[in-house]
Amino acid sequence: MNQLNAKRPSEEIRNRVRLLNLLISFVIVSFIFVIMRYVYEPLGSVLGFIPDSFMAVIVVIAVFISFIGLYISRLLTGQVVQIIEDYSNRLNYVFKITEDIRQEIYDDILLDKIMISSINITRSDAGSILLADDDNLVFKIVKGSRSQDFLGSVIPNDRGLCGWVFSNGEPLITGDVGKDDRFDLAADDITGSRTGAMLYLPLRTKSSVIGVIGLANRKSDSYSERDIEIAGYLANHAAISLEMARFHDDQRNYEIHLTDILLDTIDRFIPQKYGHSKRVAKYANIIAKAAGFSEKRQRRLYFASLLHDIGFLKIFPTESNDKELFMLHPTTGYEMLSPISFYRDIAPFILHHHERYDGMGYPKGLKGDEIPAESRIIFIAEAFDTMASKLSYKDSTSVEFAVSEVEKNKGTQFDPEFSDIFLDYISQTLQSGRLPVF
Ligand SMILES: [Fe+2]
Ligand SMILES: [Fe+2]
Repeated sequence: MNQLNAKRPSEEIRNRVRLLNLLISFVIVSFIFVIMRYVYEPLGSVLGFIPDSFMAVIVVIAVFISFIGLYISRLLTGQVVQIIEDYSNRLNYVFKITEDIRQEIYDDILLDKIMISSINITRSDAGSILLADDDNLVFKIVKGSRSQDFLGSVIPNDRGLCGWVFSNGEPLITGDVGKDDRFDLAADDITGSRTGAMLYLPLRTKSSVIGVIGLANRKSDSYSERDIEIAGYLANHAAISLEMARFHDDQRNYEIHLTDILLDTIDRFIPQKYGHSKRVAKYANIIAKAAGFSEKRQRRLYFASLLHDIGFLKIFPTESNDKELFMLHPTTGYEMLSPISFYRDIAPFILHHHERYDGMGYPKGLKGDEIPAESRIIFIAEAFDTMASKLSYKDSTSVEFAVSEVEKNKGTQFDPEFSDIFLDYISQTLQSGRLPVF
């Protein structure tokens, strides 16, 4: 462990306990000596040459030391209780915050949470998180009086205190490090981190160090070993969460771009259905929003709606009038998407998007609530768009026909609750003089 000026509270307590033991031993030895001199006859005669006045001094010192011992023991108990309480409070906080950051998948929110909790847990008054980018460390988040000066700035990843922590993967506590020749301090001039007590923690994953957390404390002389233990635990979890957030970010990126490519392919492959998937996704989103779906569920449903007809990519357009082949498209779509990790959760919505509410649909003949809510919504949105676009997208007669069909078949073909939500939206849009098609 590399550190300067680090004080271990456990070491201080151990020293006091040693002193207490010494005092108690002295008192015990003194009283045994007095007892032997005055109570135990055989030794009393041997020790008789010691004058009474000297024995009185020993007794007075022993009594005096007993009082000091009592005082130290009280002080020590108070200190130990305080340390245990403080430690347990900080541990509770760390456990709570690590749970919270583990569930966070957005990079910027995650960085903010890590920064605030590191500052709180170490009672610091400023801090920064630097992440590796090629051969540099970039200030991704900075809290404190000069935060705007540093945000976004870059330092080489092998220079200064941060560089040292990054390269060695070791925590570091500093006081006045101006005289320490282990560090190339030129890079620290930019951060002003030569002054006051600083604590640096590596953000270490299983395979590498991805960054550094820097904390500054101007209220206290230095950080302690406990700060390294507790904040280090937090930093280890933070590094794993940051790596996970990056992974999720990459996944979102793939998902968005791959969906776009697939959507474009569907539209080109089935030109007679051009724009169908996007319109279905918009209708489905209107229903989901009005039904109170969470943002995450709305987002998953949106992607499922965009790709609900992907199974047609494996059915030639000339064959799509064949009813048996047509009925295969939900299963084919499911089989195409379920092996892809970021589509796996939406594949079942596609599998069941032709199940009827009364159980007469396909491919499984599921009924009512057995059918995923997302599939029931896609079914309404898809049927509405197919009917409304039969004549022309901008023709009000087609819309009226589609509305009457949904109305007529709600409770048998379509989920009645979602149908009502959708029909409400259509009638409100029509009342405002607009056509409810996209
Ligand atoms: Fe469709
Ligand atoms: Fe379909």
